[in-house]
Amino acid sequence: MLDVRTTTLPDAQTAPEAPLSPTHVTIRREDYRPPDWLVPEIQLDFQLDTDETRVLATLSVERNGDHDRPLRLDGDDQLKLIAAKVDGGDAAYRMDGSQLVIDLSGERATIETEVEIAPAANTKLMGLYASGGMLCTQCEAEGFRRITFFPDRPDVLSKYRVRMEGDAQRFPVLLSNGNRVAHGNATDGRHWADWEDPYPKPCYLFALVAGDLEANRDSFITMSGRKVDLAIWVREADLPKTQHAMNSLKLAMAWDEKVYGREYDLDQFNIVAVSDFNMGAMENKSLNIFNSAYVLADQETATDADFDNIARVVAHEYFHNWSGDRVTCRDWFQLSLKEGFTVFRDQSFGADIGSAAVKRIEDVRVLRAVQFPEDQGPLAHPVRPDSYIEISNFYTATVYNKGAEVIRMLHTVLGPDKFRAGTDLYFSRHDGEAATCDDFVKALEDGSGVDLTPFKIWYSQAGTPKVRARLEHDAAAKTATLHLEQHEDPTPGQASKQPMPIPLKTALIGNESGHEICPEQLIVLDKARQSVAFQNVTERPLLSINRGFSAPVIIQAERQPDELERLAQTDTDPFARYEAMQDLMMRALIAGAQGESVDSDAVIRAIDATLKSNSLDPAFKGEAILLPSESIIADRMQIVDPGAIHRSREALRAAIGSALGDALLAAHRSDGAPGDDLSPHAKGTRRLRTVSLGLIAASEESKAARLAKAQFDAADNMTDRQGALGVLVSLEAPERKDALDAFYERFRDDPLVIDKWFALQAAAQRADTVDQVLKLAQHPDFVMTNPNRLRSLAGTFGANHWAFHSADGRGYAFLAEMIVVADKLNPQIAARLVPPFGRWRRLEPKRRDMMRQALERIAASPGLSKDVYEQVSKSLA
Ligand code: BES
Ligand code: ZN
Repeated sequence: MLDVRTTTLPDAQTAPEAPLSPTHVTIRREDYRPPDWLVPEIQLDFQLDTDETRVLATLSVERNGDHDRPLRLDGDDQLKLIAAKVDGGDAAYRMDGSQLVIDLSGERATIETEVEIAPAANTKLMGLYASGGMLCTQCEAEGFRRITFFPDRPDVLSKYRVRMEGDAQRFPVLLSNGNRVAHGNATDGRHWADWEDPYPKPCYLFALVAGDLEANRDSFITMSGRKVDLAIWVREADLPKTQHAMNSLKLAMAWDEKVYGREYDLDQFNIVAVSDFNMGAMENKSLNIFNSAYVLADQETATDADFDNIARVVAHEYFHNWSGDRVTCRDWFQLSLKEGFTVFRDQSFGADIGSAAVKRIEDVRVLRAVQFPEDQGPLAHPVRPDSYIEISNFYTATVYNKGAEVIRMLHTVLGPDKFRAGTDLYFSRHDGEAATCDDFVKALEDGSGVDLTPFKIWYSQAGTPKVRARLEHDAAAKTATLHLEQHEDPTPGQASKQPMPIPLKTALIGNESGHEICPEQLIVLDKARQSVAFQNVTERPLLSINRGFSAPVIIQAERQPDELERLAQTDTDPFARYEAMQDLMMRALIAGAQGESVDSDAVIRAIDATLKSNSLDPAFKGEAILLPSESIIADRMQIVDPGAIHRSREALRAAIGSALGDALLAAHRSDGAPGDDLSPHAKGTRRLRTVSLGLIAASEESKAARLAKAQFDAADNMTDRQGALGVLVSLEAPERKDALDAFYERFRDDPLVIDKWFALQAAAQRADTVDQVLKLAQHPDFVMTNPNRLRSLAGTFGANHWAFHSADGRGYAFLAEMIVVADKLNPQIAARLVPPFGRWRRLEPKRRDMMRQALERIAASPGLSKDVYEQVSKSLA
């Protein structure tokens, strides 16, 4: 483990200029060229060992087209080349950087290479690496080149045969993609297994696992009556925590059959949980590898949100079997082809198995918290990017979540049946191929008969559109006119913008009746300015716009507080109702942050009515009464003063807490949520319980501390326990330390729960959070090499707006130091800590300077990876 105490950052004054290393090459989408050589078949032979693994690869290669260029196989510093042969004889090869280059005269050849790799020394967790005594792989996007020499690009598809051999005691389980076709014992206590995957695949979908694992086994009968064996592989002690993942998998398999007509295509489906993993999970063909955080759950250790996340990630990776594996991406610029579409699919699945309204609110909250700032900052890029230095920096909220919004808009304009006709055509037309985003849209057009050309701009133009909306009412004529105007701000590399097609579900609600006086219609705003007329407007109309969040835009509607208050109680669309509350709160919060007088009465009345409503379910109430986060408020302000935003938000919370003490206490006390009940009602009740407690805490600290400690002590589930602790960590009361200590003692042997313990403290809203976090970085359990642990402390801290932007600049210094140290171990993870620094431009001048200096110090650190280099240099530009 690396010790952060002993590392120091170079002094900004004396450090050399940021290294504009020539190795940091920019890759451009317009430079795409089909592969020179194809590899229809590959055979891999692994002699597994934690310290030293031998990999023999046999590639059948075929010239692709008429050219005389040599065969170029990607490699990596971590490969030690032992031998290379062409058609059985010694090869004349040369190295060009880390590429192995071989001149070939014929149309095809057999290439053999032998390399040695060191899984235990692989701290990047890309390629073959060791985790908790087992060996596993991660190849997306460009990890396969760290296992063997190969054209590491997604448009080279091969049939794989894999032999793996290893110590039978240390690695009793040997897994790879496809079907196990043979296995047996070898000498010296070793054993082997042969695996064959009948579906050609790009190398990023290759996977291998060797370890001492046990399986939770089950099966699924597909719609055509085939039986699929399902297995979730974990350490034996974790078996009792795998049932929820298994249930989720079966639900996902059935859902994809019902909604998309997609059936699973092999006889086995394996999931493996590993504790060191860069991402959430990976869709390797028939051998999904998961971060253990997205597999393991039980009532005592996992929250309701954890359970939901597991269902979501299991479904997402399973859905990739079609949207990703059977049809893959031509190049990494097309990443949203599989990720945006698959996120849309997992979101729809989540809506269908739970509460659709609450799910939409949660998904939009994530979009606004992560994607909107990205799209308005220095790292903004189109859903289909035009260039990159390091592709792993482009697994972004824009590619994923905005990509999903683009698919959702296409779904909205086509309607479910035409959309389905389009996806059917897409899957059949491109099965077994590497496709592009244009191919996807073309298939939707051909399948539906609808011209979608105007929508393609959503793939190429970055930035969040702003839509101004003003409703004009003519009471005498009983008409209304909606005036719409769209505006797109410049983003890096895109100075001027075009108007976009923006599908806005819109209705008019009667102020007196509370009914839809003009029923919902879909308005597609596709010009800079547009007006829409409404007839039969028999009473004062209230504008309900972007219902269901039908377009990922910022609506700037001219609506009075009394109109918003009325909409918050009557709007027939639950999302719009939530949105009216958010708007109402946002106005008060911005006024407070700007030092203007705040009228909190309308907010208080709206929350009161929400809490007391008999028709709303508790999960919706929990969402609706939650104030916008400090970073979302910051995104709406021209000059950001994090201290003023924090004070404004705390003041409004305190006003709500003191005005509505009784109603909040009632919500906090409401029961009907036994810990083992995972129904939407029970989950919502628990959520509302903790959200209410948080508002009580804003006005009555010691009372809230008592209530929180009582909730903590009585909890029979992690949701209530973590919820109570989450309130306590921000208070001064003595109960805080008692609960934190008790939590640690109880769960000290469960790394996923200790992650929560770190994260809760890094998220605390207190003046001394920076000190606490610095102390936690010295804690013996703080392990830099484990991505979950690093994220739980440093990632959570970076998202804690008030603490990260601490007026003395120590928050910036801490995160900068974490990035520099982590970069030496795991550049991907280090680079993902950079985005909070991208907001420096709109900060008040003192913080802005400190933040820029912190970025410059990172840039000046010697030997920076291209991952961090790209994020930091773009953030500074
Ligand atoms: N294909 C990705 C995993 C991945 C991303 C591997 C980048 C390597 C580099 C996977 O399908 C994915 O998107 N996982 C998400 C979770 C999902 C529910 C959005 C993740 O890991 O965060
Ligand atoms: Zn994915």
